Formats: sequence, structure tokens, C-alpha cells
Amino acid sequence: MNGGTIGGAGGPTTTVTSLSALRSAVSGASPKIIQISGIIAGDGNTIDVGNHTTVVGIGSNSGVTGGGFRVKKGTNVIFRNLQLSKSPAPTDLIELQTSTNIWVDHNTFTSDLDHGKDFYDGQLDMNHGTDFVTVSWNVFQQHFKCSLVGGSDNTGSEDSGHLRVTYHHNHFFEINSRTPSLRFGTAHIYSNFFDNILDSAVDSRDGAQTLIEDNQFTNVANPVETTLNGGFAVQRGNVFTNTTLDPNLAVGTLTSVPYSYTADPASSVASIVQANTGAGKVTGL
Ligand SMILES: *[C@@H]1O[C@H](CO)[C@@H](O)[C@H](O)[C@H]1NC(C)=O
Ligand SMILES: *[C@@H]1O[C@H](CO)[C@@H](O)[C@H](O)[C@H]1NC(C)=O
Repeated sequence: MNGGTIGGAGGPTTTVTSLSALRSAVSGASPKIIQISGIIAGDGNTIDVGNHTTVVGIGSNSGVTGGGFRVKKGTNVIFRNLQLSKSPAPTDLIELQTSTNIWVDHNTFTSDLDHGKDFYDGQLDMNHGTDFVTVSWNVFQQHFKCSLVGGSDNTGSEDSGHLRVTYHHNHFFEINSRTPSLRFGTAHIYSNFFDNILDSAVDSRDGAQTLIEDNQFTNVANPVETTLNGGFAVQRGNVFTNTTLDPNLAVGTLTSVPYSYTADPASSVASIVQANTGAGKVTGL
């Protein structure tokens, strides 16, 4: 959508092993591919990523801990094959602010549930009119507030008509809430495995429209919420195991999307997703 997302394709490839080298390498607007080798310790502040950038981990255990990435007023960025963990608030593991054309693919996001719910910030948050984001084949695990799309009830003027996001084939495991929580935007959520969600999974609010199809929900307190918060949902083809769908969902208008896609049936999603999600499952770019 919107011309497509190729990240740094065609630009030079740089391999980094330190925080200072990473910060420097991902800055600037020219096309570039940044490979991270090993786990880089962050300093709690954002690592700001410039336009036309691919950030990719080498092997199964490369990424950042104790800090996170931000794309602010940017476009065309890919995050792939990264291990991202434990970023203390207020830094998210990935924050997309006023940015377009972002692909977050085959990463593992890990925190813990030992601290209070506000100790870490989001694993993948999007706000201030961000648009055209695909979140595919990631593991999101052991975290309180996973993915917030639309940061505030007061940003409708920036966010309405934007925040168009797709989540597919992700494994949400031992998360408290926000897989995702969506304000104002439009989300297509298909063939994900929601696996032990302690509070709520998809939370549609402030007029958000969601199409939720072919997902497996297992041991989820509230799989889809709308009525408490003024959002909408169309749900079809989902399998609910040890969980009960709210019978009073506010049914929305999002019944089709403007691109082609291949959903896997919900009955196969748990096994397909567990075999193929997260860092270490893809090689190269
Ligand atoms: C990055 O892309 C955005 C969106 O096209 C643009 O507004 C911004 O000026 C670009 N930044 C740089 C440094 O070129
Ligand atoms: C469903 O819940 C029961 C009781 O808590 C538990 O024993 C069982 O393992 C759960 N099923 C699945 C598929 O997790």
C-alpha cells in the first residue's frame, strides 16, 4: 500500500556491534541496510531510525535490550529478525510516530511480568497519524501493555483516517493486554495466535474499525472488546478455546481490505505460527 515498503534495499550494508555504531548507522535519509550482530545493550533512550532503512539481526540472537527504536516523521523502514527486550518506560521497544510504510517482521519481543505494568512501555506502539504498517510473524511475549495504536483519546484530528495497520501470523503469548489496543484507526487482524492473554486481547476504541478473522484465541480473558470503549469489530472464522467472545460486540463496517492476502484457517494457526514466528526463522533480507 502507499507505494510499498522496501526499507534500505539497494543501499549499502553495514554490520554493527555497538550502540554508538548502531545509532550512527541507522540515522540519515539515504537507503541503507544495517545488520546487528549480537545483542546490543541500550541506554534506555530511543535509537532514532531514518528513512529508507532496513534493520536486520544476524542469526537467531541479535538485537537490542534495555532500549528501543523510534521512527519519527519517517517513511519506508523494515525491522526484521531482531530480538528486542526489556526497554524501561518511557522508551518503547519500537515506537512509530507520524510515520508511514513500516514493516515489522519475524522479530521476538520479550519483557517480563515481574515488574509493575508501567515499568516497561509498549512493545510496539504507533501514534500521531502513523499509517500503512504491517506487523507479521512476530512473537510478542511476557509483557503487560503490548501494542498501542493511537496514543490518546485526544488525538482524533491526527489519527482519524490514518493508523491503517495489519497484524498477521503473530504469536501473542502471556500478554496482559493491547494485542493491539486501537484508537481511531483501521486494523486487519488475521491468522494470529492469541495464547494466554490475561486481561484483554483486541481492544477497539474511539471509533476504530477492526476486521478480526481466522485467529486462534486460547485462554484469553476478553478476546475482543468494543462496547466499553466505543470501537467496532467484525469477527469471522476465529476459533475460541477456553475463552468467551463478548456477545454484545459493536459490529463495524470493515468487511474487506484493499489488498490481497492469504489467511490460514484458525484451526491451523497455532501450529503454523509456533513453527515460523520470531527471530531465527528467516535468513538474509
Ligand atoms: C523522511 O520522510 C518523510 C516522509 O516522506 C519526510 O517528510 C522527511 O522529510 C524525510 N526525512 C528526511 C531527513 O529526509
Ligand atoms: C483450558 O482450561 C483448562 C482448565 O484451566 C486447562 O486444563 C486446559 O489445559 C486449557 N486448554 C488449553 C488448550 O489450554
